Amino acid sequence: MNDLTLKSTVGELYKTPVGKDVLDKLFLQLGVKKGIVKNPLVSNLKLDTVRKLAKNKLDDDFFEAILKLVNSEKDVLEKYDKPVTKEWWKEAVFYQIYPRSFYDANKDGVGDLKGITSKLDYLKDLGVDAIWLSPIYDSPNDDNGYDIRDYRKIMTDFGTMEDFDELLQKTHEKGMRLIMDLVVNHSSDEHEWFQKALADENSPERDYYWFVKDEEGKNPPNNWLSFFSGSAWNYYPEAKAWALHIFSKKQMDLNWDNPDLRKKVSDMVSWWLDKGVDGFRMDVINYISKEALPDGTLPRGNDVIGGLIGFTGVEHYFYGPNLHKYLHELSENAFAPHKAFSVGETPGLGMNMCRLMTDERRGELNMVFSFDQLETPGHVRFDDYKYDLNYYRDYISDWMTNYGDGCWMSLFYDNHDNPRMASKVTDNPDMHEAVQTLLAAMQMTLRGTPFIFQGDEMGLVNYDFKSMDEITDVESINLYDELIQKGKTADEAFKIILAGTREHARILLPWNDKIPPEDRMQSDKTPTFLPQDIRENITEVYKKLIALRKENPTLIYAPFELLCGSKNRFIYKRADENASFTIECNLSDAPLRAKISSPDLIFRTPKYESDSSMKMLNAYEVRIYRL
Ligand code: GLC
Repeated sequence: MNDLTLKSTVGELYKTPVGKDVLDKLFLQLGVKKGIVKNPLVSNLKLDTVRKLAKNKLDDDFFEAILKLVNSEKDVLEKYDKPVTKEWWKEAVFYQIYPRSFYDANKDGVGDLKGITSKLDYLKDLGVDAIWLSPIYDSPNDDNGYDIRDYRKIMTDFGTMEDFDELLQKTHEKGMRLIMDLVVNHSSDEHEWFQKALADENSPERDYYWFVKDEEGKNPPNNWLSFFSGSAWNYYPEAKAWALHIFSKKQMDLNWDNPDLRKKVSDMVSWWLDKGVDGFRMDVINYISKEALPDGTLPRGNDVIGGLIGFTGVEHYFYGPNLHKYLHELSENAFAPHKAFSVGETPGLGMNMCRLMTDERRGELNMVFSFDQLETPGHVRFDDYKYDLNYYRDYISDWMTNYGDGCWMSLFYDNHDNPRMASKVTDNPDMHEAVQTLLAAMQMTLRGTPFIFQGDEMGLVNYDFKSMDEITDVESINLYDELIQKGKTADEAFKIILAGTREHARILLPWNDKIPPEDRMQSDKTPTFLPQDIRENITEVYKKLIALRKENPTLIYAPFELLCGSKNRFIYKRADENASFTIECNLSDAPLRAKISSPDLIFRTPKYESDSSMKMLNAYEVRIYRL
């Protein structure tokens, strides 16, 4: 296909996979229905005309950046017309462990590997098939282990390599699998590669990172911003050079254009796979290919673009020119020979880009975590707002219908970087149980692989932090300082932090054998406040629904069919030659007249089980029928 230019039309742009993703996101942020592209008046508009019309909202450079992105992707997926292939990771229920706050076996205030091993029976009993461990490698913990100092060593807070080997062995003995976190967009500045690179500009390691020489050190090489506030560049006077970090000041971006670096990463991955690890979750893996270092063209202050892409500069690396090549190479060299599983964390990518990364014919990744379902349009994580599940229905129905049988979805609502979804949906404590049941029921009956985040199954909600003294996370602390600098009062800034802080997901789990907080040693990196009570009925709900999913491959592989998606309703069907399930959900806190009436009810929100009438769906009620 010829390259698109400003003379091309909106319709032509929409026909390209990447152009469609970008326009869909833009429409979403602008609150415009996607169908607008079908209107000939819109589809025949020249991009140059749109550029002129949108002068107040969109940078001129925006169009250049988009055209470049679209023109760099020449691949188009052929239709996938085989039956879905069966894979263990499609059938598995995953459980994410954030080791620091999972279970503290040696009572030093920090969770540990022995703690995880001691809870394997709990996970097995829940119905978990595979565990994803957030990073457990040696790290100075600027970003709780997402800043790795040594990729082949265990963090002493968490234990030893023997503890890890025991955990892996016992996990396998119990018939479960274990995947690790692979953080290779960046390393810690304390990694020996970075130390060598800094000390000697002629060292081979120098080119493993993004260094830019500059005698003066006054202006950073470009205007890129860091996701954790401020410029994405550190100046090192001793080396008279800048180095790039798109996350914290101690998380230095690796240069994947260097073949030796890629080889080092691949060898390290193979080393863990040789040990028997079953695969990896790959941290911000879509950021690894950086297109040189031009200025970012999308200022953060612009709401439309802010909502569309996020941070200044990100358009130059969120879907970089060599992304597919590097992923394919890593897959060939390390994953494929070990038949290992991969799930990429891919913030900012739309459906088509994700398809190109995960379609099984392409040999890149097995699955991705795409994040567009986590906030409703026009909102970012730090907004204090209520999440409308009608948006989730539309989002998920679109993906279930259009992602394609060559690709497979991950199903999740939160993780260690996000507040708990139940709290985003409602702040009424009386409603949490019903919302959590509804979320669990959708997660176990939609088509894709469920990832439970630790504590979801205990019914945990956001934590009621009282002040910044209780917040330890680098992202929140930096953002708070930035907000104060920008003129917010302490109260205003704290309210913003409270809405979005990652800390909600990181407090120590309140196991029943909980240690009273006064008996715990306080750690400065794991908030160990008054535990919330475990809601055992939610744990029971998870067990029941996981078992239902496992007993019925129909719930795993059968196509998804949307039966009703009108306001506050979500009714869908999963049916194949073996069985037929219909799931009816009330997505709101107001009662709704039920549409399905059948004696074949197999699950109903337990809270409402004693209701004799089935005529009305109660607040957030879910019912599963086997028809
Ligand atoms: C990912 C991780 C997050 C981390 C960041 C930088 O988004 O999930 O916790 O801070 O990458 O590694």
